[in-house]
Amino acid sequence: MPATRTPAKFYAPLSIGAPAPQRSTPVRLERMIHFIPPHNAKITGRIAELASQVDVILGNLEDAVPADQKVAARAGFIAMAKATEFGATGLWTRVNCLNSPWFLDDVMDIVGAIGGKLDVLMLPKVEGPWDIHYCDQLLAQLEARHGVKKPIQIHAILETAEGVSNVEEIAGASPRMHGMSLGPADLAASRGMKTTRVGGGHPAYGVLADQAAGGQARPFFQQDLWHYTVARMVDACQRCGIKPFYGPFGDFSDPAACEAQFRNAFLMGCVGAWSLHPSQVDIARRVFSPDVAEVAFARKILAAMPDGTGAVMIDGKMQDDATWKQAKVIVDLARLVAAKDSDAAARYGL
Ligand code: GLV
Ligand code: MG
Repeated sequence: MPATRTPAKFYAPLSIGAPAPQRSTPVRLERMIHFIPPHNAKITGRIAELASQVDVILGNLEDAVPADQKVAARAGFIAMAKATEFGATGLWTRVNCLNSPWFLDDVMDIVGAIGGKLDVLMLPKVEGPWDIHYCDQLLAQLEARHGVKKPIQIHAILETAEGVSNVEEIAGASPRMHGMSLGPADLAASRGMKTTRVGGGHPAYGVLADQAAGGQARPFFQQDLWHYTVARMVDACQRCGIKPFYGPFGDFSDPAACEAQFRNAFLMGCVGAWSLHPSQVDIARRVFSPDVAEVAFARKILAAMPDGTGAVMIDGKMQDDATWKQAKVIVDLARLVAAKDSDAAARYGL
């Protein structure tokens, strides 16, 4: 058994003067984490407009930012964060990974300059709880030094074979944990998978139906390459009360495949996904908001069982304490969406 902090110490600040860690992840709608390149002035110049259209804005400092632009991206993120009022939209950054030459200055400069505005720090290539412990302690020291009042949360990217092996320990490593995203590109490389795609299926990964009498054509059913990892991530996160997300979908020319990938993740328990292109914002908004008919049916279940116990039949379907809980998941999410979006509120009748 690895040694863990005692319950009394788990929620103690890790530095004198740092804010007390939160006991639960704040309830926020985070259907899409919209990635922007902070070294691109054309994009940062439109940041207030972009922020009003998404649930989360993330300034990306890691992969996709060229090495000679890393310092400009960091400075661009700080300037953008200082100049913008984000309102209810979350402000996140993806810093460079722990063994890179940029991580330390990313965190030191950003917390020093805009620590009070930053909601979540996304940490790439997390391999085990030790990575979270290091980042946790460093953030506490910097929060204390700069008088940051609200703890900055950590969101891990699950994108190495070692990280997947340690996913439960990562999820429970600290009360600072916000959640986790599946990173299918780095994970494919780390595992030695034979695909060059960023998320989604692969035409050669599937099951061939049995040979039929008469030599009829044998249907081939494509399977989901990410099912196992999403399932492990969802269980690891939900058991710790933190949030699972699907990450990037790289083929911008195939919105239907993006939608299918996002929807599988949503149905399995994920609460959002990354949008890397403006066209993916609406896909994520649609997928990670519950379906109107599903919400109406879930509300019928709650109304039929006011105290959540017993058994009733609705439209020929058996309902009991467990389906009441299923219905509550959907109605709670619908209420969260409705609170932000009056059109959705009208569609849900809330
Ligand atoms: C995301 O960072 C990925 O590697 O898929
Ligand atoms: Mg990656």
